[in-house]
Amino acid sequence: MCGIVGYIGREKKAEKVVIEGLYRLEYRGYDSAGLAYVEDNKIKVVRAKGAVSGLDKKSSNIQPQDLAIGHTRWATHGKPSEENAHPHESFKGELAIVHNGIIENYKHLKELLMDEGYIFNSETDTEVLANWIEHTKLKRDLNLVDAVHEALKFVHGAYAICVVEPSAEMIVCAKKSSPLAVGIGDDSFIIGSDATPIIGRAKEVIYLEDNQIAIVTRDKLQVKDIDNRDTGFFPEKLLLDLQAVEKKGFESFMMKEIHEQPETIADCLRGRLAAAGPEIALGGIEDVMPRLLRAKKITIVSCGTSWHSALIGKYLIESLTRIPVEVDYASEYRYRKPIISNDDVVVGITQSGETADTKAALEMAKGKGALILGVVNVVGSSIARLSNAGIYTHSGTEIGVASTKAFTGQVAAITMLAIKLSHRLGHIDDEKLMDLKDALAIIPDQVQEILDDSAAIESVASIYANYDDFLYLGRGINFPVALEGALKLKEISYIHAEGYPAGEMKHGPIALIDESCPSVFVMPHDDSYEKTVSNLQEIRARSGKVIAVTDKEDKNLTEAADAVIIIPKTEPELTPLLTTIPLQIFSHKIARIRNKDVDKPRNLAKSVTVE
Ligand code: M6R
Repeated sequence: MCGIVGYIGREKKAEKVVIEGLYRLEYRGYDSAGLAYVEDNKIKVVRAKGAVSGLDKKSSNIQPQDLAIGHTRWATHGKPSEENAHPHESFKGELAIVHNGIIENYKHLKELLMDEGYIFNSETDTEVLANWIEHTKLKRDLNLVDAVHEALKFVHGAYAICVVEPSAEMIVCAKKSSPLAVGIGDDSFIIGSDATPIIGRAKEVIYLEDNQIAIVTRDKLQVKDIDNRDTGFFPEKLLLDLQAVEKKGFESFMMKEIHEQPETIADCLRGRLAAAGPEIALGGIEDVMPRLLRAKKITIVSCGTSWHSALIGKYLIESLTRIPVEVDYASEYRYRKPIISNDDVVVGITQSGETADTKAALEMAKGKGALILGVVNVVGSSIARLSNAGIYTHSGTEIGVASTKAFTGQVAAITMLAIKLSHRLGHIDDEKLMDLKDALAIIPDQVQEILDDSAAIESVASIYANYDDFLYLGRGINFPVALEGALKLKEISYIHAEGYPAGEMKHGPIALIDESCPSVFVMPHDDSYEKTVSNLQEIRARSGKVIAVTDKEDKNLTEAADAVIIIPKTEPELTPLLTTIPLQIFSHKIARIRNKDVDKPRNLAKSVTVE
């Protein structure tokens, strides 16, 4: 997600404070970064695609400054690139701007500006905003503050902005629907899209209200309302613990990340579902679509949780496109002498983009001529770079070692890929495509509904916190969700948990069942529901406890199961995005009851860069 940092003060350290602030905002996820400062009455802009470290390197020769604004961008309008990165300077050099949010009427404003002779260097709505403010300023001979105020009256959408001009007297900030904070330091003001860049540099902070404009000079802060009247401001004490702020009041990063999923899934879907026409827009694979559509076979390689999203991908791609899909553990694929040809498509799914096994497997396949697609969270990571094409999941930085929001991001991305291929190949018509897109669009709200009911899920977890063995069961697309549920529980609570296809139970694992080994069934009302109910009865008949995750009240199930967790209804193809959520909450609660460090489970690393 985009991030903003600004500094204005008596000390000449603005560029350092801004870059450090941008590093701190890396956890939000981004694809490019930039900063602007003023030298010899001219605005200077430095921008870099990829990591903040790239911008840091490019900025190493900047003379010490007392004013700078910076930004980490997460692409909405226009691809990730240096040209589209912020800050954007206006056409006539009157100002530079950083912006979080989306300007909904930017096309209309752009047309008006083009009629006035404005030329644009990027595809962004932000450059339009920069030029719109400049145009208002020059046309009506206004100062910067009044120009921002007047220009914003014609702007629809969401924004948090910081604007600077060549006189370098002030930073003008404004916000609507996107957050913006101003930290009040001893001899400086630090601006942030959240408090993280401000911590340690200011003891007090104000959080701007919608439609307010803050005028920040070296020694004064002034806040005005929509009518350009001075409103004063009420500073709050700033928590000095960076981690506590980053955790946003949640007891762990993992819980924070579980609760971020409505937002992160929406971020993954954003722009892609809203494409013109019925299509799903996956810009990163458009160039290789012809090759994808002729694929005779798709192989997905990955590890751990990412392997579970690969399995979900297999169910979806095969059923929706009829293209055969193989799923392999990356560590196995490398060494089993797989048959790879020029026609093959090999997909790597990875949160970090640095997993050594996945990277080596993809390198090997690439060497044999396969087309490599990366489904990756970390922008600019090794696997993102080695892939020929790909889909970023845009889940933001995941700090908890146990993957949660990155998993649902992967599932959302692979689901969109399967639906897109299916439509292009003519297996689903426009109507079915629209049904799936509509259903996808409300998934973030449905995830929120489940999260709002966390207490009920946690109370079920409390009952089972002292059991030492669990089975997780499901059929079809629910089986990989069961695997993921079991992995989450074992990773963070060290309880023995196994995922199994529910129909496979009777071939062996049922021997484990007695009253001390509960089973968690993932069983929305899809084609496999009735058969899964029968499997559940087999467990009950052997005194096994049963917890069922389903999507509709069913009297028979309520009677048969010890606990039933109900999630909202969606299309059968999309249930993994919902059934996963209660399993995450369930594991987290059990691990906390057992007093485990859920964010840093023993023996595990966030990014596994060894073979
Ligand atoms: O970064 P990757 O997605 O490639 O990581 C793969 C696995 O190491 C990772 O999913 C691991 O299983 C997590 N701890 C799961 O919670």
